[in-house]
Parts: sequence; C-alpha cells; structure tokens
Amino acid sequence: MIRPTAGRGNAGTLHFPDVSDLADPLLEVEDLVTSFRTTRGTVHAVDRVSLTVNRGQTLGVVGESGSGKTVLSRSIMGLLPARDVLRSGTVRFAGHDLTAMEPAQLRQVWGAQLSMIFQDPMTALNPVVRIGRQITESLRLHLKMDRKEATATAIELLRSVGIPSPEQRIRSYPFQLSGGMRQRVMIAIALACAPRLVLADEPTTGLDVTVQAQILDLLAAMQQERHMAVILVTHDLGVVAKRADDIAVMYAGRIVERAPTRTLFAHTRMPYTRALMDSIPRLSDPSGTRLRAIGGRPPDLIHPPTGCRFSPRCPYVQDKCREADPPLRTAGSPDHLFACWFPLVDGVPSGPSGSGQPVTLTTNGAPNNAVEAPAS
Ligand SMILES: Nc1ncnc2c1ncn2[C@@H]1O[C@H](COP(=O)(O)OP(=O)(O)OP(=O)(O)O)[C@@H](O)[C@H]1O
Ligand code: SF4
Ligand SMILES: [Mg+2]
Repeated sequence: MIRPTAGRGNAGTLHFPDVSDLADPLLEVEDLVTSFRTTRGTVHAVDRVSLTVNRGQTLGVVGESGSGKTVLSRSIMGLLPARDVLRSGTVRFAGHDLTAMEPAQLRQVWGAQLSMIFQDPMTALNPVVRIGRQITESLRLHLKMDRKEATATAIELLRSVGIPSPEQRIRSYPFQLSGGMRQRVMIAIALACAPRLVLADEPTTGLDVTVQAQILDLLAAMQQERHMAVILVTHDLGVVAKRADDIAVMYAGRIVERAPTRTLFAHTRMPYTRALMDSIPRLSDPSGTRLRAIGGRPPDLIHPPTGCRFSPRCPYVQDKCREADPPLRTAGSPDHLFACWFPLVDGVPSGPSGSGQPVTLTTNGAPNNAVEAPAS
C-alpha cells in the first residue's frame, strides 16, 4: 500500500510519497537512450529523450510508425528484452530512480504505481488465463486482497470499463472477446491498483472510430476520478489534440517538438509536426479527398541521416540542415521546445533562404533575431 514517505524501507520494500506531497514532477526522464544490437547493426530506437510529466497531467507522444514510441514507453517502464539492449539515462518516478532498480523492485512498481496499456492486447494478455484471474492476480499481489475481495473488485472494474455481464465475462479467455472488449480488459488490468501514471501505447489501434472514442473517454474519466497522469502514445495527432495537456512529437527516436497542446497547434515550429497536422483528415474536406501522406520514408535507425534527421523529407531543407544536427531549443516561450534550424512562423520557414542562420522567435511567433535562443 502507498505510504507517505519516499525512499527504500525494510526488506527492499519501496515506499512512495502521496502524490499531492510531490514537489517535483511525477516522472522525469533525462537523456534516455535505448538501442538494440542486431545482425544488421545497432538500432538507435530512442536517442537522448528527456521529458517530464506532472501528476494528473496527460502527455501525448506522437510520431509515425517506427519513430520509437513503444520503445520509449517500454524503456520508461523498464520492460525491455533482456539481451542485446543498451540503455542509458535516468527515469525518475515519484522520487525513485527506476533505471537503478532490481527486477524485484520494479515488480513492486509495475501495476501498482506505474502501468502500461499495451499496443496489442492479444499479445499482452495471457491467452490461457481467464481475464478475471489476470486482474485479480495484481490485486492480490499489490493490494493484498483475499480471493473473494479481489474477485468482487475485478467484477466492478470490468463493469466500470463497460464490459457487459462482468460476472460471467470474468470467466472468459481473451480469444472469446472482441478487439474492443480486449482493449477494455487491458485498461481494467492497467487501472486495477490505481497507479499514479499510465502509459497507454496506442490504446485504440485497430478499433472503429466509435469504440475508439468510447475507450479514450473512459480512460479520461478514470484519470479524472483518480488524478492519474497519462502518457497517451499514438501515431495520430488528431487523437491527442483534444485530450493531451502537452504534446511531444517524436521523429526517428528523438523528441523534435514539445509544447502545451494549444501552443503546438497555434505556433507549430517543426515542419515535421506541420506535416503530421496536415495528415489529419478534416470534416470540412470534400468526400473523396485523399489523405495527405508525408512524402518519403522514415529514416533507417541504424544509419540515420546526418544533420537534421527529417532533412531528406523536409520541403524547407537547406544546406545547414544536412550538415548540423539542430538542437532542441526554446525561443521566447520556455515550455515550447523544437529542433529545427528554420522553424516555421505562421506556416512558413523563418530566416532568409540559404542564409544558414538560425532565426530566434518571440512567443507570439514574430522573428526576433536580437535575442539568442537558449539551447536546451
Ligand atoms: N527488440 C528490437 N530489436 C531491434 N529493433 C527493434 C526492437 N524493438 C523495436 N525495434 C526498432 O526500434 C524502432 C522503433 O520501434 P517502435 O516499436 O518503438 O516504433 P513505434 O513508434 O512504436 O511504431 P508503431 O507506431 O508502428 O507502433 C523501429 O525501427 C523498430 O524496428
Ligand atoms: S532543420 Fe531544416 S530539414 Fe530539419 S526540419 Fe528544420 S528546416 Fe527542415
Ligand atoms: Mg508502437
């Protein structure tokens, strides 16, 4: 159970402060690097990612397929393959350094404090264990409930995530449920022990739009009720536009833009973020309008391009972009970070074409070359 002190207690038992007592962010990820050794070479899946999440906050993590969203989520959790993985950087959660924990300590954190809704429920759920048991196991382990109490709680949880006849459904195996129902079960498992942070990795992929909205609404309602923080991972900016407080855009293993959601949409700096926005279908589009896909292909993470990783696909690329890696920096507004030498202002790239000079910006988006942008 949660106790009001941070630190390590007897017999390796971890104690977590009440989140309302936390002065620091709930989650602080600093310079996280995760690579895989393969026969083709080293895959640089997550490259120096830093981010913070406060209690009750929703952070959207958005990027195309292969940009490193799932590896980032798993790396934060500490759920990576045992072999051929290189990980560095720190992940501090509620005052504890998760990267320094032994597996036995991590097991105290998973489910109880920090949980994950996996991208593919069919592989994440155990196919040979009834769904009721998959929920009661963590209730018994973390909350020390007896069998009867855990079963009653599991039924209530299934009811609260919209599973009809939960008293009967509790005896079902995952294959006996529809995709939407399995996704709801995953949410019930992730929320069973009232964690402080949930990593929801594409929690609605493959579901139709109505079910998708229902599941995201359900997650939001539970989040409010429990003051949980959520990292909502998706390839679809449209999904997080109305649901996230902040959005971090990932490209080729890195965060390339991060800002409060309204700021990101109103003052988009990165051409890649702009391209993601342009690929969101709009109700106002005439029927038959083709979706605007981003031209080119995401880079090979074994041999990423030099300079800006988006340069082979960027419509505004200039020589400097191919030569030097743009650092993640702020300009004016400290909570808006972006990695681009020629950031957009009102939809057009700033700086004289070919000048190679980065342009700094004020908070209202006007170029302001008099002020040097601080490197982050
Ligand atoms: N175990 C692994 N071994 C080698 N490479 C891996 C491994 N897991 C992931 N990768 C690679 O890491 C990169 C990032 O993958 P990741 O699954 O995080 O992408 P993603 O953004 O979640 O994509 P999607 O939207 O398709 O889920 C990809 O190039 C992927 O092939
Ligand atoms: S640094 Fe250059 S290539 Fe990269 S996004 Fe900005 S303008 Fe495009
Ligand atoms: Mg993924």
